[in-house]
Order: sequence, then structure tokens, then C-alpha cells
Amino acid sequence: MSGKRFRFWLCLGDKLEEKMRMRNKYRKPTTFRCNAGSRCSLSVMVWSLVGFLLMIHFYSLSRHKDGAGGHSQLQMSHHHPLLRELEQVEEENIQIPPPKGKRSPRAAKRRPKRPTTLIDEFLDESSQIRHLFFPDQKTAIDPMQEAGNDSFCYYPGRIWLDTDGNPIQAHGGGILYDKRSRMYYWYGEYKDGPTYHAHKKAAARVDIIGVGCYSSKDLWTWKFEGIVLAAEETDEAHDLHKSNVLERPKVIYNDRTGKYVMWMHVDDTNYTKAAVGVAMSDSPTGPFDYLYSKRPHGFDSRDMTLFRDEDGVAYLIYSSEDNSELHIGPLNQDYLDVTHVMRRILVGQHREAPALFKHQGTYYMITSGCTGWAPNEALAHAAESIMGPWETMGNPCIGGNKIFRLTTFFAQSTFVVPLPGITGSFIFMADRWNPADLRDSRYVWLPLTVGGAADHPLEYNFGFPLWSRVSIYWHRRWRLPYGWREQK
Ligand code: DGJ
Repeated sequence: MSGKRFRFWLCLGDKLEEKMRMRNKYRKPTTFRCNAGSRCSLSVMVWSLVGFLLMIHFYSLSRHKDGAGGHSQLQMSHHHPLLRELEQVEEENIQIPPPKGKRSPRAAKRRPKRPTTLIDEFLDESSQIRHLFFPDQKTAIDPMQEAGNDSFCYYPGRIWLDTDGNPIQAHGGGILYDKRSRMYYWYGEYKDGPTYHAHKKAAARVDIIGVGCYSSKDLWTWKFEGIVLAAEETDEAHDLHKSNVLERPKVIYNDRTGKYVMWMHVDDTNYTKAAVGVAMSDSPTGPFDYLYSKRPHGFDSRDMTLFRDEDGVAYLIYSSEDNSELHIGPLNQDYLDVTHVMRRILVGQHREAPALFKHQGTYYMITSGCTGWAPNEALAHAAESIMGPWETMGNPCIGGNKIFRLTTFFAQSTFVVPLPGITGSFIFMADRWNPADLRDSRYVWLPLTVGGAADHPLEYNFGFPLWSRVSIYWHRRWRLPYGWREQK
């Protein structure tokens, strides 16, 4: 039985219950008049309903077991055969090295009273196992050189070179598939400058350089198209003055106007401006004209993303109320502003880095917790309607080891790319931030699939798994299925 049909049966159950409640409101409490004029006991009705619900419950439990009982079941039952390889579970066994040598001054200051964890090692620039999180230049992925076995392979965390041989600079990025040129464009923060702290308590930062744009036909070989929106060098009052913050740029295409529209998080050094910026271009490769910034719907706005639905309506999703909740609202027809419609979602959950996608009519979102540049646990959320309500399903990460799963594989969500032609399969894009040297932050791209029963059924759903599970599989090395390029 598909998730949709479950929802249908559940709705039927809910409606029946609601009807009975409404009827009973206006009737004597103990009897119920049947069509034939006979009197039925209310308890018979209730017990029939309970029996019916129990039957579905047991059926759903057995389905849930099938789904959770092993990945092989997941692989076999839900997906295209090409995906089996992507869903293989790979383990990691990184050991914390014995204390030896010097800690970096920053790490020493941070040194906790409790035993050192892998996260401490990750954040320590002089850790002996740093190369495991930030492999060096020698292991860089160079699509212009790779041949044979390694071509088209993603190695999460390794330096990734563009077609000119330079490390890709597109952090906090997003991808646009441009139907007109049949190309993918990857936009992100171009951070190839020194990392510093504006003052003692400030977060690590790189001055704004601009938004980098890369083009590709295969999502693996990326050509640098230039900085398509550049920092303002002299005018200190400008939103994009280099001393400010420009993060998480996302670009969508507007069919009506024929314009490429970019939205981004713009802020001051201390993250108190908390606004969105909007820019526009006639071409995916820019240059983009910066238009203005605002606090959407009058609220503070930090991490953000855009989602363009199949009907052409685009939405802005942003962390607000000091990152305690997300807000979502449609853009107007030219995508240059929000409308007055807005819903608060995931209220009180303190989530950021939203990455939204849609599968078979259901909306899904991956978010992170709010811990600055340090990694934390991802959560997957789902909704029937994009405006909510949104439900939290749990951690989507599979494989690696516990600490990998609790840190989103030492990375933070930024975007989810649908793979056309392979239903239910996506690429999860995340940033492995390097707060000591932000320009050296890495990309963690991994297969994401939707299928099988969710781990955390909703509280009010009688135990029925309403949503499909979102799974992000850890791989040290992986590639898109061979057939994918032809299917595109
Ligand atoms: C977490 C956000 O997701 C990033 O985009 C960035 O704003 C950092 N915080 C800054 O600490």
C-alpha cells in the first residue's frame, strides 16, 4: 500500500471520527440512529472503528518492519536497480588519536573537561587526523585528469578542481538546471580570501568577494563562469560592501519575465542586519544586477533558500525569530519580492540551512541545527502542502558511524538536486566548513533517496507511517549510475 493510500485511509478514519463527534454533540450520548430505523449501540460503532484501525495498524507495522529491517529490502522494493549501488551502507571507523603534540591555541582554549570527541578533533587545526576530514591537494578530484576507474567519481570532502585546475569556490551553494542551455549552473559563495575574526567574539569570516558560478553538463566537470555578482569595494553603505556578509545565494529562472533571479542572505559582520538580497540577470552566467535588500515580511532572515514548484510558483524559506523557527512564503510573479503571505514552520525547533525538494507530490526539507560553522545533526521534514504543516521525521543520515551521522558527515546542508529520470533519487549537497580557513571548506555530495517507511511516525497518526523515509547514504567514493547521463 503506498503512502498516499495510507493517508487516504487515515483521512477516512479521521473524517468518520469527526462526523461521529459532531453528531454526538447534538444527540443523546448513548444511542445512534441507523438508516433502517433500528437503534445501534454507539459502542458497536466505536468497536468496529477500533477494529478497523487496528487492522490497518498491524498491516502498517508489518510494512514498517519490512522497511526498517534491512537496507536490502529498501533497495529491492522501492527503487530503480541503478540505485542499489548508491544505497550501499558504508561504515567508517575513525579512531581518536592519543593526546600528543600541541593543540592549536584556539582548540586549546576550547579544550573541554570531558574526553576529546571526534568533533573536537575536526575543529582542531593541528589534529593528527585532520587529513581525514580535509584531505590534501594530492588527493584532489581533477575531472580534466581523471580517467578510467575514477572518472565521474565523487569523493566527499576532497578538494574538487574546476576545468582550469582551481578548487571550486561555490560554498553554501545551489544548482539551477537551465532548460534553455541544457546546462547545470552551480552558484555559491566565492570565498578565496583570508579568514579572520572582525573582533574577539565575532565568527570566522572572509570578506565578500562575490557569487561564483560554474557550469556543467554532467554535474561532475565544472567550468568556472566567473563571479556573477561581485562585492562592492568602495561604497561602505552598500549591502555588498566587502566588509559585510553574503551567504547561500540561490538562483531560479522566471518563465514569464525570462530573467534569472538570485536571492541571498545579506548581513553585516555581526549578523544583525539579517536580511535577504535580490539580484537579476538576463543570462545564467550573469552579470547579475543587485536590486535591493529587505527583511521579508518584516522579520529577521538569516539562512535561506528558494524553491520553485512545478506550477511555477516560487517560495522563499528562511530562518527567523533569531533562528528559532523557519518562515515560508510565495514570491510574487516576477520573483523579485515576497507577497504578504507567510507561514511560520518548525516553530521552536531552531533549524537553519534549509534545502527543500519535492517527490511525488510531497515536500521534503533537510535542515541543520544552529552551531555556527561547527557541524551538527541534520533532520528531515515533510509536508503535504508546502505552506505546512511541516512534520519532523528524524535524522536522514545512514552509514559512516554514529558520529558521522550525528554531524551530517561533518557537513551542513545547502541544496538538494533532483536527478531527472531516476524517480526518488537526488543529490544531497552539503558544506564541510573549515572555520580556520573558510576558503578551504569542502563539498560533501551524497546520494539521497526517498522510499520506505519513516522512522518517526507522527504523534497523532495512530502509529501509521505517513511519510516515506528520506535517506542520505555515506560513501567515501561514489558516482551517479552509468545510465543516468543518457537518461537525462
Ligand atoms: C551557519 C550558517 O548556516 C552559515 O551559512 C553561516 O552563516 C554560519 N552559520 C556562520 O557562523
